[in-house]
Amino acid sequence: MLQLCMLQLGMLQLGMLQLGLPLCRCAIAEYLSKDLPYNVTRDDVFLTDVCTQAMEAALTALARPGANILLPRPGYPDYEARAAFAGLEVRHYDLVPELDWEVDLAAVEALGDKNTAAIVIKSMWECFQI
Ligand SMILES: *[C@@H]1O[C@H](CO)[C@@H](O)[C@H](O)[C@H]1NC(C)=O
Repeated sequence: MLQLCMLQLGMLQLGMLQLGLPLCRCAIAEYLSKDLPYNVTRDDVFLTDVCTQAMEAALTALARPGANILLPRPGYPDYEARAAFAGLEVRHYDLVPELDWEVDLAAVEALGDKNTAAIVIKSMWECFQI
């Protein structure tokens, strides 16, 4: 697969660079395909240079009228802002401090519905990184 991708590099256009270098995307696609019953292609791989950009791309892709997203509380204010900007309704589930900040699974189950586009799961460690 990598050889095929490299042959396709002749078709590289500058606009594709914003998705990541094709050779990197090919390598990632090949790696991800190892454990799947189908092949991931480089066009399925979207690379970003920072997590914020990845989050923004994902939230934009998930947004549709009436969709909601479940976010942890406490969590990242940046997720709130980006989700709201994308037009997603934000719903919060709690992380339980008495249980070492475990996810309140009952709350997640109660909050989610057929319009839930995503559930963000992040550890407290990540939440408190500056
Ligand atoms: C995936 O790609 C490899 C390499 O091109 C090929 O040998 C294999 O048959 C493909 N697998 C599927 C499921 O298409």
